[in-house]
Amino acid sequence: MGFLYRKLIRQILFNLNPEAVHDAVIKTARAAQRIELLNSLVRLMARAKDFPLTVAGLKFRNPIGLAAGFDKNCEAARFLAGFGFGFLELGTVTLRPQPGNPKPRLFRLSEDRAIINRMGFNNAGAFDAARSLESLLPLPVPAGISLGKNADCSIDEAPKNYLETLKIMYDYGDYFAVNISSPNTLQLRSLHSGDKMRRLVEPMLEFAAGQKKVKPFFVKIAPDLEDQDLESAAALAVERGFGLIATNTTVSRAAVPAYWQSYEGGLSGRPLRELSDLMLAKAAALVKGKVPLIGSGGIFGGAAALEKLNLGADLVQIYSGLVYEGPFLVKEILEYLDRRQWRPPCGK
Ligand SMILES: Cc1cc2nc3c(=O)[nH]c(=O)nc-3n(C[C@H](O)[C@H](O)[C@H](O)COP(=O)(O)O)c2cc1C
Repeated sequence: MGFLYRKLIRQILFNLNPEAVHDAVIKTARAAQRIELLNSLVRLMARAKDFPLTVAGLKFRNPIGLAAGFDKNCEAARFLAGFGFGFLELGTVTLRPQPGNPKPRLFRLSEDRAIINRMGFNNAGAFDAARSLESLLPLPVPAGISLGKNADCSIDEAPKNYLETLKIMYDYGDYFAVNISSPNTLQLRSLHSGDKMRRLVEPMLEFAAGQKKVKPFFVKIAPDLEDQDLESAAALAVERGFGLIATNTTVSRAAVPAYWQSYEGGLSGRPLRELSDLMLAKAAALVKGKVPLIGSGGIFGGAAALEKLNLGADLVQIYSGLVYEGPFLVKEILEYLDRRQWRPPCGK
């Protein structure tokens, strides 16, 4: 199936506008998930070996997840799960609906196997996302919800904005990913610095601690962090017991031709891999296994996924790889892990 995608379907899709293709994919998935026969067919075609593991107290059937930003409104989760993912990260959801940045805002760098996006958290808002997800529950795999900040909310007001979003979404997610690393919301990345991150995350952890079910949290970090910010993020994660997702997209253009320098936004895909692996390795050295890590950035096949798992990731996520290799990439990665006799570490 991967062959068919690469040889035929990708050629057709890549002649069309990237955002229009994405919207059509979500619409199709949304419609298809209501037809049980189609869900079953996809599940059958994507079937692969299970690698059961427990991370952050949640049970996963394998460590390969869908990265945030693909299903921003939590509307196609059931169909997407059918492709064999071990988990899904939905969103990023903001409190109020917002249109995101002006179009065009999504670009393929086909020769570099990369994407630049400056979507800017376009989404239908937390109430809409909660309603959609409620209609799809229970899902066959754990679903995390990525939380972001409205563009018109100042950095000082961010803690309140995130907390209100969390309160609306809390019942519907298995874990929460606090996204402070999108480069497309003004000053968002300033929330990485020690004190700001603490003031952002603590009210959410306290809210969760007061609920019937205490759910795990992750903070998604940027690949462009200074060591000092990474160190303080890791220290806070260990102190407060939340995981880290390394990483979001990069603002660096060092790994792509100069032509792309003038395209603002976050770069993902192959050229991000080295940088995100480096951040993951540094994060793993800092947290020393005390909190879980999710690796994201540049996974296009089994070898890159295995590399992240070996660097210390408990789970990994893919996005750009799906665009270039197709949805059966999940199955291909799982088959690779099996061939390499990868097994979840003992105790996981
Ligand atoms: C079009 C697009 C939209 C994205 N939107 C989000 C988002 O809303 N929230 C988020 O945390 N990450 C978002 N990301 C980042 C991905 O989740 C992922 O971390 C990043 O692309 C690196 O992985 P990859 O190289 O496999 O794509 C987005 C990425 C792309 C390409």
